[in-house]
Amino acid sequence: MQKFYLTTPIYYINDKPHIGHAYCTIVSDTISRYHRLKGEGVFFLTGTDENSQKNVEAAKKAGEQDLQKYLDEQSAVWLKTWKELDITNTDFIRTTEERHKKGVAKFFKIVFDKGDIYKGTYTGYYCTGCEAFVRESDLSDGVCPHHKTAPQKIEEENYFFRASAYRDRLLAHIEAHPEFVQPESRRHEIVNYITDHFEDVSISRKNVLGCGIPLSIDPDQVVYVWFDALINYLTGVGYGTDDSMFSKWWPADVHIVGKDIIKFHCALWPAMLLSAELALPKKVFAHGFFTINGEKISKSLGNAIDPLDLARQYGLDALRYFLLSEIPFGGDGDFSFERVRQRYESDLSKGLGNFVSRVTTLCSRLEPGQLKNPTEIADAALLESTLSDTWRQWEDGFEEYRLDESISSIWRLLKWGDKHIEENKPWKSAKENPQAFVECISGLAEVVRQVSLLIKPILPGTAEKIEKILGVADFHVQNPFAVTKRFGAVTITKVQKAEPLFPPLSTS
Ligand code: ME8
Ligand code: MG
Repeated sequence: MQKFYLTTPIYYINDKPHIGHAYCTIVSDTISRYHRLKGEGVFFLTGTDENSQKNVEAAKKAGEQDLQKYLDEQSAVWLKTWKELDITNTDFIRTTEERHKKGVAKFFKIVFDKGDIYKGTYTGYYCTGCEAFVRESDLSDGVCPHHKTAPQKIEEENYFFRASAYRDRLLAHIEAHPEFVQPESRRHEIVNYITDHFEDVSISRKNVLGCGIPLSIDPDQVVYVWFDALINYLTGVGYGTDDSMFSKWWPADVHIVGKDIIKFHCALWPAMLLSAELALPKKVFAHGFFTINGEKISKSLGNAIDPLDLARQYGLDALRYFLLSEIPFGGDGDFSFERVRQRYESDLSKGLGNFVSRVTTLCSRLEPGQLKNPTEIADAALLESTLSDTWRQWEDGFEEYRLDESISSIWRLLKWGDKHIEENKPWKSAKENPQAFVECISGLAEVVRQVSLLIKPILPGTAEKIEKILGVADFHVQNPFAVTKRFGAVTITKVQKAEPLFPPLSTS
């Protein structure tokens, strides 16, 4: 069986998830569902980044003396959020877990034994917001441009990773594998960064922060949080604890990350893997950022929207639809309640919902068993080629990480379906030509069935509702996707009258 291993970043837990984290996780969930539909074995990993100074500071602020208790509670908030959002992650890794610490120790030892770790003195700046060593040239007016805070000046004896030794191999890899860093604009950014700035990096901190995995070679030091966190992609699939599981899943097929953390994922991480002589992930895809009414999402601005509130207000699928379709994957975009409502009304309620309700209402004029298999109708060839065009665009979109394109292909089909109804005027043929009426409705019912398959990875709850309305839920579960998506794979017998899939929003 073909395997597909994908990951999200592991998130810091100094706060609860906001719409940006939900975006990355929902995108990853959609891609996972797509690969599962194709019959691939999918491992979808997410989790929490816990050995971080940010978390320690947040615990203090919350008045919690017991750090582990704080981390347990906060991590549970994230896990629960993903459950409530129906995220289909295979596992959830926490960097304070034993399995992770074991893998980090193993990895560190291999890189150390290789001679790629040496002792030195770090003098410079550290931004806790970024959890990163920063150069003076990274600052604007003395503060971190991302966090608007002055970095700490530190001078510490610690351990360095000989990243610079891998600069040339990394550049050669990126050149030979243009798909490795996506989208393309990010690849240029990374190539410039590696060429001009990629240096040896401090990978330990003095053990005074109250968190972190101690170094076996020097217990006065803990592993630098990014060096530790990146290894989650290995330990989550058994590195250091289960060799056969690890060899089954590694390398990752894709790391989905935000554009803010590509240097770590496309430079430091592959250099670490080269040093440990492990295969590199096949792809790092950097998605863009959501702003809210034009502003950066942040706690201090008080605009950090809780995805659960949105899901409760509009429905889970409406939330997914908005996030996935509002911005081209890889680009940035703005979030506003106004836009969420607009898209709900125009695309979901009027677009998808209306089409399904039009067709099911027409179907209700027939007796059970009267619908034909769509391969037997006069328009069979037209329908089949329209649907196969849609499937091709849909699949290309997923394979090329242009999820918004996959979505557009479905909405183009819905438009085509509406036009097909207008042109065929079934309300007329119902009286004048009952045969043509049955054929027209049979074709439309097939379009609705195919739509239920096309939206499965994107709007899984709505897909299920439509399958039930058409009475094909069991058939879709019992047969592989390659069979169910065939034109005319099943003859629909009885269609239920449907409740509106996306009822009008209250105006309050
Ligand atoms: O960086 N729009 O964790 P983090 C879109 N622990 N996506 C957003 C977003 C926004 N406004 N804000 C955040 C870390 N994200 C490290 C990762 S991985 C080994 C360690 C998403 O909690 C986006 O995917 O700061 C971003 O990369 C991620 O959250 C950062 O989450
Ligand atoms: Mg961050």
